[in-house]
Amino acid sequence: MNVCGLDFGTSNSTIGVYKDNKPSMVPLEQDDRQQWQSTLPSALFFAFEDDQISFGRSAMRRYTAGESGRLMRSMKNIMGSAFMGETTQVKRRHYSFEEIIGFFIQSLKQRAEHYLGEAAGAIDSVVLGRPVFFNDDNPGLDSEAEQRLLNVARSVGFANVSFQYEPIAAAFDYEQKVTQEELALIVDIGGGTSDFTIVRLSPERHRLTERREDFLANHGVHIGGTDFDRRLSVSGVMHHFGMGEPLAHRPTLKMPGHYYFDLATWHKIHLLYDQSVLRELRELRPTLQNKRPLDRLLDLLTHRQGHRLASMVEAAKMELSSTTETTIALSMILESFDDLENCSITRLQLEQSLSADCERIFSALDQTVAQAGLKPGQIDTVFTTGGSTALPLIRQGVRAAMPEAKLVAGDLYNSVGSGLLTEALKRYQ
Ligand SMILES: Nc1ncnc2c1ncn2[C@@H]1O[C@H](COP(=O)(O)OP(=O)(O)OP(=O)(O)O)[C@@H](O)[C@H]1O
Ligand SMILES: [Mg+2]
Repeated sequence: MNVCGLDFGTSNSTIGVYKDNKPSMVPLEQDDRQQWQSTLPSALFFAFEDDQISFGRSAMRRYTAGESGRLMRSMKNIMGSAFMGETTQVKRRHYSFEEIIGFFIQSLKQRAEHYLGEAAGAIDSVVLGRPVFFNDDNPGLDSEAEQRLLNVARSVGFANVSFQYEPIAAAFDYEQKVTQEELALIVDIGGGTSDFTIVRLSPERHRLTERREDFLANHGVHIGGTDFDRRLSVSGVMHHFGMGEPLAHRPTLKMPGHYYFDLATWHKIHLLYDQSVLRELRELRPTLQNKRPLDRLLDLLTHRQGHRLASMVEAAKMELSSTTETTIALSMILESFDDLENCSITRLQLEQSLSADCERIFSALDQTVAQAGLKPGQIDTVFTTGGSTALPLIRQGVRAAMPEAKLVAGDLYNSVGSGLLTEALKRYQ
């Protein structure tokens, strides 16, 4: 029997397997410098020319190179949402979101099987990660999301499928390095969700299969890096495309905001490429005094550059983790506009636009501690993982919430997948 731990993330996915008698994260794809990486960005590109589907960095590359096709990112955000049962059209075919996620998970499985070698045979058993809540408010949609992910895993050939909360998996990963008993708070802030677990860890406990009593609280909220991208885009970029522009005859009325929220939301961008939306926008043109920003928007949508803009906003956000000011080169995507200033963004601006989201994240963290019946001073260690924990604002918030605890910064991307493999080995072998 071959087992794996599979972390299907909103932004990045990983898969852990047992090879040559040791656990290992599968090298999934080479990056631009030909270095193998254990992450596969959770992106698909349906190319219209050759009808091929590409995944990960390769999907992003083909899209950015201007090939005609459809890019999809953040598919996990759709799970747990009201859109989940819908289909989406690519060329003339309609695909369900389960089918699309199935293509992606199948590609992960194939890469892992290739890594194990043909002689090892297929991987038939998986522990899949899941956020504490796929949906914060609707338990029905939450369990439906898990059921759909289960169906997807079965459909790509996993005979044994089970789930583990992502922060619990991260706890098992961290526990491998623990030398004495400690009470830990695990903080996993990724692209889609912020998840928390409070757990008693020790080398002895690590060997046990039944750990229910060690987990004192699990909690989470559906906010993550893709929400931060949206906030930054709306507050710092969208005015270049007409957001907030007053209508000429009724200056108290402004350009409708929903176009901009969709353009700033990864999984909704493609909706704006629809001819009917372009028509609506063109009809608004005469009602605007300043038409330039809307012309930019029309140019951007006609050339299907929405995801490219969102990628540039995300890159700016990430850069602001290490610098205090950066620019988004709008001229790169709007070549015919010579009046364009590049869009400058400061860390302060980013942090102001994230303040409400951060408040909700840290309130969920406080609730986790309260649910466990603890005071912050009783937590020995805070272990952080997930790409968004690289943000200085998040790191400062964790420090402020837990002033006395030891902070351990884990691997940003691999902790969950590695912990899911630990769990898979216990459950299936
Ligand atoms: N240096 C950085 N500064 C700020 N954000 C970052 C940085 N590096 C990565 N991120 C953000 O981290 C997120 C991806 O993190 P990760 O891969 O842990 O998420 P995920 O596991 O795919 O999502 P989830 O677990 O929520 O489903 C993205 O939103 C990305 O922009
Ligand atoms: Mg994650």
